[in-house]
Amino acid sequence: NNRTGVRIVEVGPRDGLQNIKKSVPTDIKVELIRRLSKTGLLNIEATSFVSPKWVPQLADGHQVMKEILSSLGPEHQGQQLRFPVLAPNLKGLENANRAGAKEIVVFASVTEAFSKANQNCTVEQALQQAEAVTKSALKLGIKVRGVISCVFSDPFSGPTPPEAVLPVVRRLLEMGCYEVGLGDTLGVGTPKQVQDVLDILLGHIPADKLAGHFHDTYGQGIANIVRAYEMGIRTFDSSIAGLGGCPYAPGARGNVATEDVVYSLENAGISTGVDIEKLADIGQWISGQIGIPNGSRAGAALAAK
Ligand code: HMG
Ligand code: MG
Repeated sequence: NNRTGVRIVEVGPRDGLQNIKKSVPTDIKVELIRRLSKTGLLNIEATSFVSPKWVPQLADGHQVMKEILSSLGPEHQGQQLRFPVLAPNLKGLENANRAGAKEIVVFASVTEAFSKANQNCTVEQALQQAEAVTKSALKLGIKVRGVISCVFSDPFSGPTPPEAVLPVVRRLLEMGCYEVGLGDTLGVGTPKQVQDVLDILLGHIPADKLAGHFHDTYGQGIANIVRAYEMGIRTFDSSIAGLGGCPYAPGARGNVATEDVVYSLENAGISTGVDIEKLADIGQWISGQIGIPNGSRAGAALAAK
């Protein structure tokens, strides 16, 4: 069946919140994740275990994880809910493990300039750290996902050659990541570019090892997802209310909004397993809590009905 459903990885509580300057109270973060976990979403990136000097907004990661894990009602515990957290180095893994994380995300950029800005190291150094983290995590029984940045363009050095993506994806899979998310950090890519990169990757890597992680700066997120879906990709990262951006990618907006993704795919008969009405309410609620306009067009329209 080539119109199978998709798996959505909600990244709002991590990718979304990390770029918000005003500190969001821990209670609101926990409440956001709790509400999202009741919509049918099974994968929710909860927080990051990165340097609090680099991303102060997520300095409360330990507390967030503890509260979510202890507050999960019995009705949710059998549902295979997963709360992956970012861990760029061994210190991050140690802290994530202590907080009870069962899945982590390691990350690396395809491009040198962003690697330096985001992780203060070269791409090779980031991959070596990711490998050390992945190997240790797997020994602890922690699953590891990889996400790569700048698959289409780097904020400082410009367009990324499509053939530069494959070696980085390969390294992450070889070290033990179960899947690699293809990050359009800047949100500048278009369906044509999605096709160009996937044409290369899918010649070597099964589609079920790849995910789309598209930011929506230029409003191409949904079109990019549809193109990737047509080419066989079935996992997509998205953010409630389109929250976010990366603090080290100037001008980039949030991930494509989860409400927009669910609205579009469900309408095409592609199951997401997610309740759009509940999502729209949550998107409206969190935008109000943070004091920003709702970044989801579908969500805002549904909430206004
Ligand atoms: P550094 O300054 O080179 O590293 O940062 P360091 O080892 O010298 O550490 C500096 C300080 O941070 C030290 O503390 C460390 O102990 C501490 P001090 O001795 O000065 O008191 N530290 C930590 N503390 C807590 N947890 C840790 C940790 N590591 C070090 N894990 C480092 C290197 C990688 C740590 C830093 O650059 C960093 O944290 N970078 C992450 C930045 C980030 O989170 N960016 C956003 C996420 S990635 C993203 O959004 C892209 C993505 O969405 C895909 C896409 O869209 O492209 C995934
Ligand atoms: Mg991102």
